[in-house]
Amino acid sequence: MSEQGKTFFLETFGCQMNVHDSEKVAGTLVAQGYVQVDDPRAADLVLYNTCSIRDKAEQKVFSRLGQYRKDLGEGKMFGVLGCVAQQEGERIFEKAPHVGLVVGSASYRRLPELLAQLEGGSRRVAGLDTDTDETFETEVTRRDNPFRAYLTIIEGCDQKCAFCVVPYTRGPERSRSSKLILEEARQLASAGYTEIQILGQIVNHYIDPDPARLTFAELLSAMAEIPGIRRVRFTTSHPRYFGPDIVDAITAHPALCNQVHLPVQSGSTRTLERMFRGYTREEYLEKIAMLRASPRGIALSTDIIVGFPGETEADFAETISLLDTVEYESIFSFKYSPRPNTPARDYAEAIADVESSRRLSLLQERQREIQTRKNRALIGSVSEVLVEGRNEKLNQWIGRTTENRVLNFTVPAAAPPRNRLGTYAWVAVTGATPNSLVGEMLPASDAEEAASLAVPIKLAWSELRVVS
Ligand code: 5AD
Repeated sequence: MSEQGKTFFLETFGCQMNVHDSEKVAGTLVAQGYVQVDDPRAADLVLYNTCSIRDKAEQKVFSRLGQYRKDLGEGKMFGVLGCVAQQEGERIFEKAPHVGLVVGSASYRRLPELLAQLEGGSRRVAGLDTDTDETFETEVTRRDNPFRAYLTIIEGCDQKCAFCVVPYTRGPERSRSSKLILEEARQLASAGYTEIQILGQIVNHYIDPDPARLTFAELLSAMAEIPGIRRVRFTTSHPRYFGPDIVDAITAHPALCNQVHLPVQSGSTRTLERMFRGYTREEYLEKIAMLRASPRGIALSTDIIVGFPGETEADFAETISLLDTVEYESIFSFKYSPRPNTPARDYAEAIADVESSRRLSLLQERQREIQTRKNRALIGSVSEVLVEGRNEKLNQWIGRTTENRVLNFTVPAAAPPRNRLGTYAWVAVTGATPNSLVGEMLPASDAEEAASLAVPIKLAWSELRVVS
């Protein structure tokens, strides 16, 4: 590594938590005098922040390591961070001898010290301890997204679901103090962020170590009241700890987004038991009923695994019937993938891959029908969006509603041309696909009128035409 101009390239795989960890890692490196570059060829240190939730994700990293070794040649230092680092540990040095740094997410606090060892000439440096009660606190986070700021409140997971690698890669649950969290949120507001996405592997199992002892719902409410913060989302919740106080907080605070992600994993109580999820189908549906009863009209999404060992045709039929009952706004669905250290890895009755694929297709097809129907029903409504992107080819702005729906929209010719990124706009929905909506921005006066309404109103089509 050259003494001057130490540069690094950092590529991130996996969940939002990883994306945010990378923002903190990048900030830590910059504070150590490193310069971040976008091209791995220009970097002295090439880092991957990795995901091991399913085998495919893990394979990606090793193929990337192999590919970059060929493309970039000798003379670079490679580092593997995150969940694969934790899971594979020092075996990575054997599998990929050009790797010099292996750091699990529970050891990021040690990064400055580990980097110093590397710079001091050590060939192989590892930080792999998960036995910790510390969280990764840093004031030097380099946030990538200019509109939505990620904010971690709890790290790790103690749940030990039978399929899940997270407790073994991210270590035990540990919550940050509400005082620090709210301070960070206020800083984000004064930096101009209007949306905060609260992160935690089991976010609603937050236990405040501060004497204030805020519950998760109280923390959400406190954040929603920070001047300047217009949207607060949180992910991922565990159904077992999802209480009515969270729904009440959402109902009471318009700044808490109209959206809850509540992974069910399976619609069959028998499978849920074998997954160690800690709830039955009926108990889960009670939580859904509680959410659906809120006058806010909370949008719901979930995660589902098909082909879990021993999943019968009848179990799978229960998952399909759950989709029909809940009618989620969106889902993420996966084929079961056996993971190291997890109990389900040793379960008998593996489901053949072709059968898991068949179930996955059936599930996705059913959900597609539901989303097509539900999104079509939104034609003629108006929604406020945060503008997050621009599609020049289609002359559209890309917005997101409080329900987390993507709503792409055009601007009436009469509206002043300007950069709308990061602004809020009221949009009339004119078309729908299963995964997104299209619409047209309301002129300013109509937008004001719409903004005065607490929930999106439904306009008759004829009125809408007058508007546009
Ligand atoms: N196989 C398939 N999917 C998994 N998930 C977690 N572990 C596995 C696994 N071993 C899914 C779950 C979880 C989401 C983040 O990933 O649905 O909610």
